[in-house]
Amino acid sequence: GALSRGVPDPCQDPRAARAARGKLCIPTWALPAQHPVWLGYAVQELSLATPGLAGCSQALSSLSWFFQASKKLVAATGQQCLPVSMDVRQPQSIAAAVDEALQEFKRIDILINGAAGNFLCPASALSFNAFKTVIDIDTMGTFNTSKVLFEKYFRDHGGIIVNITATLSYRGQALQVHAGAAKAAIEAMTRHLAVEWGPNKIRVNSLAPGPISGTEGFRRLGGKFAEQSKQFSAIPLQRAGNKTEIAHSALFLASPLSSYVTGTTLVVDGGSWLTSPNS
Ligand code: HXC
Repeated sequence: GALSRGVPDPCQDPRAARAARGKLCIPTWALPAQHPVWLGYAVQELSLATPGLAGCSQALSSLSWFFQASKKLVAATGQQCLPVSMDVRQPQSIAAAVDEALQEFKRIDILINGAAGNFLCPASALSFNAFKTVIDIDTMGTFNTSKVLFEKYFRDHGGIIVNITATLSYRGQALQVHAGAAKAAIEAMTRHLAVEWGPNKIRVNSLAPGPISGTEGFRRLGGKFAEQSKQFSAIPLQRAGNKTEIAHSALFLASPLSSYVTGTTLVVDGGSWLTSPNS
């Protein structure tokens, strides 16, 4: 909720952006140190630490976690937070969530497209539906949500879109053809939308995290011993990343600090993809 009011596009209102920065953005963005989930301010949860929430078609039991996160955001920032739930594969459910957020806050400034589904699976064992499911959540979900928000608000008011991608496709990582293809498409989409929507004062960028400790992606892709992994020595910075580092990077892309940046991908992986073995 706080962010829906913070970080106005500086192209539209630089004074408002300056005024809002200290009051609204920083406290909220600082929170992901513990909870890398920003909800309510936009329309889609960041799923990196969101077990079971990837496709948003979660059972009600998962939602208690969702509301707890919302309460923590409010307590930590003193700002409003409206938790909205939707399935990014269902444009109508996105539209309903965006309408709810707009009704509450009258504006949306930033969209973080973070919903994702993933698992390790060799291409030979991957069913057609498994591949499609990940494309539907990651790629279609990013397009669906961006398009709904464009039509309902960003086209006339400008805005900022940050797409969470991954470096999986850069070296053709094994067991990840579904997620790698889905994320590569998102990076292409980032460039296309940046070109088409730039004149509407919309910036579109991607953020590609590497191995980030304490996240669902880390557990799923690295296995249960991922946190103790000795393989960090292969990473140029010799360690896993942490949630705060992703939060700071997202803050950069979503704030006026990157006001002339669009259509690019910020890789935040300690140099990992440059040296990681393809295994
Ligand atoms: C093979 C699998 C599978 C698995 C599901 N499927 N899990 N195939 N291995 N582990 C197949 C199913 O058999 C089915 O195909 C199809 O996928 C759809 O499965 P459903 O369960 O019906 O779909 P749904 O409930 O909509 O979602 C499934 C899911 C979801 C996408 C796998 O459970 C999920 O991903 N949850 C995790 C969310 C998450 O952790 N997200 C963060 C990812 S981290 P059939 O043919 O049988 O019908 C990330 C960052 C990477 O991506 C960072 C790198 C460092």
